[in-house]
Amino acid sequence: MPGNTFGRVFRVTTFGESHGRAVGVVVDGCPAMLELSEAEIQRELDRRRPGQSAVTTQRKEEDRVEILSGIYEGKTTGMPIAMIVYNREYDSSAYEELRFKPRPGHADLTYFLKYGHRDHRGGGRASGRETLGRVAAGAIAKKLLATIGVEVLAHTVEIAGIRIDEVSIDEIRENPEKNPVRCADLAKAREMEERILEAKREGDSVGGVVEVIALNVPPGLGEPVFDKLDADIAKALMSIGAVKGVEIGSGFTSARLRGSENNDEFFVEDGRIRSRSNNAGGILGGISTGMPIVARVAVKPTSSIAREQHTVDLRTMRETTITVRGRHDPCIVPRVVPVCEAMLALTLADHALRAGVIPATRLG
Ligand SMILES: Cc1cc2nc3c(=O)[nH]c(=O)nc-3n(C[C@H](O)[C@H](O)[C@H](O)COP(=O)(O)O)c2cc1C
Repeated sequence: MPGNTFGRVFRVTTFGESHGRAVGVVVDGCPAMLELSEAEIQRELDRRRPGQSAVTTQRKEEDRVEILSGIYEGKTTGMPIAMIVYNREYDSSAYEELRFKPRPGHADLTYFLKYGHRDHRGGGRASGRETLGRVAAGAIAKKLLATIGVEVLAHTVEIAGIRIDEVSIDEIRENPEKNPVRCADLAKAREMEERILEAKREGDSVGGVVEVIALNVPPGLGEPVFDKLDADIAKALMSIGAVKGVEIGSGFTSARLRGSENNDEFFVEDGRIRSRSNNAGGILGGISTGMPIVARVAVKPTSSIAREQHTVDLRTMRETTITVRGRHDPCIVPRVVPVCEAMLALTLADHALRAGVIPATRLG
């Protein structure tokens, strides 16, 4: 199986290479009667776009989305929704050297070994540009989830070792779009920005951690045993390029806690069972509890760096060196934020449709 499709009922297939003709997505399984416009999809895509600040790449990608099908008179019809963005502004010259010299840390080597023939330009299918289709589909998933009151938010919690402390949901709603690193703590955001620029000046890159949250998720989403909600969320987030770790709730910290510390004790509020803490990240036994769903991803430092590194020439099998040219993000973390929101929204929309919490055929 080629692996370009995600989801069981809300099925998303992305297509396209970074410097090919276009990138895009086909969403199958969205119920009819959802109001949807290109402008709403565009708003989400604009958040993913590069060239927004000095801490992301200065590539100028206009990324205008066109909806080709599945919408009539401003509403979904229940038919496949195809969305496309033509690739207009790209310069593949910097990639010529990479054709036979795989970048350490990128997908060049493995694609070459597996397929033999690939579109290496701009990173081809392994480019961050592939996530454009995910974000476009995620915009639909978010709208669909909003019909049952679910809200999905993400923010940067750590970059280059600078970590934020506790922030409120309101700060997470308001602040990330006010600064280039998408951090809810504005003072820490400036420190993070400094660290990124420092790495950039040194021809290097840094990584960090993104937290993604879903609020008002109804209890009961998730299918035992292999399609547990946490298992599907982990897969969704881990499928994002440069993501090297996923934790749900207290995650790796739980390994260092006692049961008495990690257990979330229950109480009743307005006739509903809730818990005082949320170390479970809103999921028990693979099924949503009704508490907020909280996941965090570890994003590695960008592999394409402007420093000389050792590699192998695939034609001669001799050792050589490479210095990556072209415009790359010195830190991918801020651009991963909207992608995490999209992937969590896609997973929840799929499970809400599977559970019948959102009707599969038509809304209203
Ligand atoms: C939004 C986004 C933007 C990215 N931008 C870059 C980039 O400018 N340069 C780069 O080397 N990698 C970039 N990446 C990461 C690569 O896509 C990723 O490292 C590569 O596909 C190898 O996969 P892996 O790191 O998961 O093993 C980006 C990823 C995302 C999600």
